[in-house]
Amino acid sequence: MKKIIYIPALLAVLICVFIFSGSSGMKNKEAAPYFKYVGVKDCASTCHKSETKGKQLEIWEESKHSKAFLTLQTPEADQIAKDKGFTTPAAETPLCIKCHVLGKDIDPEELAETFDKTQGVQCETCHGPGSEYKRLTIMKDKEQSIANGLMIHENGAEFCVKCHNSDSPTFKSFNYEEYWGKIKHSNPNVVK
Ligand code: HEC
Ligand code: HEC
Ligand code: HEC
Repeated sequence: MKKIIYIPALLAVLICVFIFSGSSGMKNKEAAPYFKYVGVKDCASTCHKSETKGKQLEIWEESKHSKAFLTLQTPEADQIAKDKGFTTPAAETPLCIKCHVLGKDIDPEELAETFDKTQGVQCETCHGPGSEYKRLTIMKDKEQSIANGLMIHENGAEFCVKCHNSDSPTFKSFNYEEYWGKIKHSNPNVVK
């Protein structure tokens, strides 16, 4: 009698273990490192430079995002890190690097060789790791790009406050309209 009850129970437990390990394993081992960060130079080498497409590269170069890592290499930044109780220079302090490069901790497994953290807050910080969607055949199709890691923010406001918030030691305020106005780089050919 007892055996008949135990077998279905054991099976149920086994199935649960299988489902759980399967799904989390996929997230950590396959999906995440599959798309790699290639760095801003790669995004701009062929596209995203020309006037007709909206010269995203130039707009970004002139924005403070392109200087975000260099900012960490200043005495002012080191002082801020020290005041926060860190014993490392700002440019080597993970908390500071987080918001001044990718918006998350840097995992070397997610970086292509071309990625350069000194380029600061880059295209891929906001648009997702580009190793797959950068290919022209994929890039020209929005759906396919998204399936291959591209992030498009219909509501930028919610996204920006991932970094523009009071966890930043220098935070004063953030107004989406005003801040987006300083970095806007839409493609003029896309009608919304
Ligand atoms: C990954 C973190 C991160 C995200 C996400 C982010 N920013 Fe920033 N932003 C920064 C950092 C860091 C600086 C400061 C760079 C510096 O001065 O070195 C900054 C600076 C700026 C500045 C310059 C402010 C000034 O003092 O003139 C503007 C404008 C700006 N961001 C707009 C935006 C907008 C709009 C969004 C959303 C579409 C956004 N940012 C998303 C990290 C981020
Ligand atoms: C939560 C995200 C976040 C963290 C963490 C963060 N920063 Fe920043 N940092 C920003 C943003 C966003 C700005 C742009 C300021 C603004 O306009 O809001 C900025 C600006 C700066 C500036 C330029 C100040 C100015 O007035 O232009 C310095 C210097 C700086 N951060 C140093 C640091 C140091 C050092 C650390 C680590 C102790 C650090 N940050 C951690 C988001 C962050
Ligand atoms: C701080 C975050 C941030 C950075 C850095 C950034 N973008 Fe964007 N980008 C956005 C947001 C947010 C939008 C959409 C906002 C909107 O249209 O209202 C956008 C829109 C775009 C569009 C237009 C998409 C469309 O359908 O119209 C292109 C193309 C683009 N970005 C390319 C780039 C490239 C290339 C770089 C680097 C040189 C870059 N972006 C850097 C946040 C960013």
